[in-house]
Amino acid sequence: MAIISTYCKKGGVGKTTLLGYLAHYYSQKGKKVLIISADDQNSIFKLFGVGDFITDSTDNYLENYLTGACEASDIVCEARDNMYIIKTLNTDRLSFTLTVKRQEERKIIDIIKDFTNYFDYIFVDFPPSSSRLSEVLLDISDKILLIIGLDTLGLDGYLNTIQYFVDTDIDLNKIKYIIPTGYHPIKLAPNKALKELKKQASAYTPDAQITIPVSDKSIVRNLQSEGISVFDNAEMPSKFHQKNRDEFKKELKKMFDGMDLE
Ligand SMILES: Nc1ncnc2c1ncn2[C@@H]1O[C@H](COP(=O)(O)OP(=O)(O)OP(=O)(O)O)[C@@H](O)[C@H]1O
Ligand SMILES: [Mg+2]
Repeated sequence: MAIISTYCKKGGVGKTTLLGYLAHYYSQKGKKVLIISADDQNSIFKLFGVGDFITDSTDNYLENYLTGACEASDIVCEARDNMYIIKTLNTDRLSFTLTVKRQEERKIIDIIKDFTNYFDYIFVDFPPSSSRLSEVLLDISDKILLIIGLDTLGLDGYLNTIQYFVDTDIDLNKIKYIIPTGYHPIKLAPNKALKELKKQASAYTPDAQITIPVSDKSIVRNLQSEGISVFDNAEMPSKFHQKNRDEFKKELKKMFDGMDLE
């Protein structure tokens, strides 16, 4: 059992994408997986073609379970075999409640710890903004994967995250892996950014391992617009798309197999 989070205090770097694919890969290996969306955009659902669950008008969200108004089984969406997702409705409001009522903070921690009795892995998807909810959930994470976009603004995301962790007393040692995204082997900018990231990481998070960088592949956006995961055995519209999908799948598999998330 482990609580795993992808984080970066910068938007659009691939946090949700990587978390979703990692969770799906683990579920296909026979692990029972729960994803908690701590981002009320709940974009993780769209990755798996279950976006309707976000706007579903029933009370199937985390906050409702916290108040005891419904059962855990009412709030989980089965997105794939062995893989379930929980949404949040309004993280600002929930954060406010956590700030003003200390016992609510204990309650959310207990509820998530209780989930660990039923799932092998709990993955938490965060928004790039900071809130009390993010702090509480980062704090109970066993391992944090820091996702860093390989450009100038992306590198700011690394420093902003370090600063945020230090300011809010979140243990930097929880960051086990740094995953660079937006890579291209022959483009100058991402290679320069990767070098710079390695320099910064050796100064502030020397024990975190930098993984192989994730390539920027247009096939990812195509699959996501269809609600198909890279680990689904979906038929592709052409040999070209299939080749791109398979290449990306192989790249991710290699990275995921190299990580120890026990
Ligand atoms: N490897 C990739 N290659 C190309 N595009 C990608 C890749 N990974 C993610 N994307 C695209 O980049 C965009 C942002 O990805 P994602 O939503 O995963 O980022 P995020 O960090 O979770 O964003 P937010 O901060 O808004 O939650 C999406 O449109 C997604 O399809
Ligand atoms: Mg996201």
